[in-house]
Amino acid sequence: MIEIRAVETDADYEAWRQVRIAVLPYERCPSVAEMRAMESPERLLLLAEVDGEVVGSGLSDRSSEGGRASVAARVRPERRRQGVGTRMLLALSEHAAGLGYDVAGASVDDEGSLAFAHRFGFAEVKRQVEQVRPIGDEAWPAAPSEYRIVTVAERPELWAAAYEQVALPTFPDMDLPKPLDVSAEEWATEWINDPAAMFLAVAGDDVIGVAGLMLDTDRPERAEVAYTGVRREWRGKAVASTLKRSSMAWAAEHGITEIYTWTQEGNENMRRLNEHLGFTYGLVGIDVRAQLPLKLAE
Ligand SMILES: CC(C)(COP(=O)(O)OP(=O)(O)OC[C@H]1O[C@@H](n2cnc3c(N)ncnc32)[C@H](O)[C@@H]1OP(=O)(O)O)[C@@H](O)C(=O)NCCC(=O)NCCS
Repeated sequence: MIEIRAVETDADYEAWRQVRIAVLPYERCPSVAEMRAMESPERLLLLAEVDGEVVGSGLSDRSSEGGRASVAARVRPERRRQGVGTRMLLALSEHAAGLGYDVAGASVDDEGSLAFAHRFGFAEVKRQVEQVRPIGDEAWPAAPSEYRIVTVAERPELWAAAYEQVALPTFPDMDLPKPLDVSAEEWATEWINDPAAMFLAVAGDDVIGVAGLMLDTDRPERAEVAYTGVRREWRGKAVASTLKRSSMAWAAEHGITEIYTWTQEGNENMRRLNEHLGFTYGLVGIDVRAQLPLKLAE
């Protein structure tokens, strides 16, 4: 019998994480403490159990794209095609529709999951590409003359300034229908994990660029590239590549052997920058959207 229930205890959170890690082994999963810090009235985490064994997990939340919900149903590969994903997705969509959302977004990266999503009326809206870079001997870049590179560990107070001076003005430049809607609190808690691995470019008293890494305690040898942004008036001056090369040199010194990032297919500037830095292409993610409440096709 399939039972769907809400995540409550730390053990539930850990069970939720283990499903996500089994389904997406190549993506960093936030720790229990990080996930606890993300709790909000709109955010729902569910577990799917069959005969008391956790076989699936799900998430419904407000999307950072704003104005819509984001849902994710995941089932352990060996427990698929038994109706678990359907039960999970319907529970997630019921929650999102109950909050008043009329559109849900999800992301899939294999044909089977796309076929599953189509049954509920999801249609493709755009694609994201994974870019991957092995880390070898990485030289620290030469110190720039017009600005300085510092870490958030050295200047913690500048992370809030980076939100105002870099994140908010550069979010509209991503290839998204609407700029990301990220609060200052989310920026402080969800967009950074180790301040020593986050680099800022500072000119005078202003933060002009940001780039760094999100570390993975489950797979310490692999890190995800964090948000990269440079103020418009400073573009074309190698600020982003200097920041990224700094994070790559830091990675090499901290036992990291591979870094990866997901970029919107249409974000030409970021893809080209990563190509220039030696990234190659990996997986393709398909972003899909459906009207809520979801209707199961016959
Ligand atoms: C998508 C996912 C959640 C489906 O879980 P599931 O428990 O296997 O789904 P269900 O058993 O409820 O599938 C219902 C129907 O969807 C379709 N479907 C599901 N997986 C399919 C596949 N691999 N190929 C073709 N059709 C598929 C079928 O019509 C299936 O009915 P059937 O088994 O009677 O033919 C699971 O494959 C998964 O975890 N994928 C990775 C995460 C992901 O991409 N989630 C996105 C969804 S929001």
